[in-house]
Amino acid sequence: ELQEQHQLMDLHRDAASFYFNCLKKRGNAGARYLAGREWSIETIKRFGLGYAPDQWDALCRYMSTKGYSNELLEKAGLAILSEKVAGNKRHYDRFRNRVMFPIFDIRGNVVAFGGRILTPEGTPKYLNSPETLLFNKRHLLYGLNIARTHLRQHTLILVEGYTDVITLHENGFQNAVATLGTSLTPEHAGLAEKTAKRVILCFDGDQAGEQAAQRSIRIFRNTEVEVKILTLPHKTDPDQYVKEKGAEAFEQLLQKAPTAVEYQISLIRRRHSLATVEGKVHFAREASDVLKQIKSMVEREAYAARVAEEIGVSKASFMEELQQGKRSFE
Ligand code: GTP
Ligand code: MN
Ligand code: MN
Ligand code: MN
Ligand code: MN
Repeated sequence: ELQEQHQLMDLHRDAASFYFNCLKKRGNAGARYLAGREWSIETIKRFGLGYAPDQWDALCRYMSTKGYSNELLEKAGLAILSEKVAGNKRHYDRFRNRVMFPIFDIRGNVVAFGGRILTPEGTPKYLNSPETLLFNKRHLLYGLNIARTHLRQHTLILVEGYTDVITLHENGFQNAVATLGTSLTPEHAGLAEKTAKRVILCFDGDQAGEQAAQRSIRIFRNTEVEVKILTLPHKTDPDQYVKEKGAEAFEQLLQKAPTAVEYQISLIRRRHSLATVEGKVHFAREASDVLKQIKSMVEREAYAARVAEEIGVSKASFMEELQQGKRSFE
């Protein structure tokens, strides 16, 4: 198995260099697409981006000249076996006419690929390698091989997409990582915990992003990681935001990102009117459900004091609600 792992790593490295070299071919659609994303040549090299040509078996043919069998390419998930052609077994490339994003493990080995379609429409937008001996999505954070040695204030920034990581990186936020089209797993949270003290969640500014933040907060509760939430304007993601507003503006958002508790309380506040007694009661109840999750007494009391002040009751009576779970405001 170790032997096979080694072979698969060599294969991925050679495939990545094939895709990279395809970007240099004159008039290719991949380079045109990347020009539109406005990343620098250094960034493209650093992330090893490439292009899978618009042909059935360009990779298979190239890799056979390097001595790799189609069977091994199939094991790597880069070739697919077709038996349709008159009962003849033939392999063809999984990735065709896509911009290629090599996926690195924590040591910087290429272990998989993501391929983006070149057009704004069309599905799937991203095609990923299947899980293999080398690649397990649940355990891998894109960009962690770089981010772990470029923490800023012991912090990781967690985003949704490859392109978010790349644009943040190019703008000096080299501590950005992404899950790979899956939601955050306990394994991801564990990896983050091993790497950093704090994680700032920075998901897309849409309904899905808000839900992902809620889920992720819950998962991080089983770790010692301090979680903050950066909320982007509606319908933007970190890549678009930094390109439009610049690194300085993003830095401001990072600085004022609320803690998970503040964030959750602000969502509750949004649903209730604090102008009425009834609204205050509901707000207090739901806020106390959030505060009950806090393990540290000191921290819990500090937030409790704030909530109490906000609804205009004494801290003592709010603490009673908190500790006993009794409906003491009714
Ligand atoms: P761009 O449109 O290129 O800027 O990508 P994005 O990262 O902004 O994409 P989006 O916000 O739609 O999705 C976030 C992440 O989810 C992507 O980076 C992918 O990892 C993943 N993803 C998106 N679409 C698909 C898909 O069709 N299939 C799979 N497997 N993953 C996807
Ligand atoms: Mn989205
Ligand atoms: Mn995007
Ligand atoms: Mn996005
Ligand atoms: Mn309510």
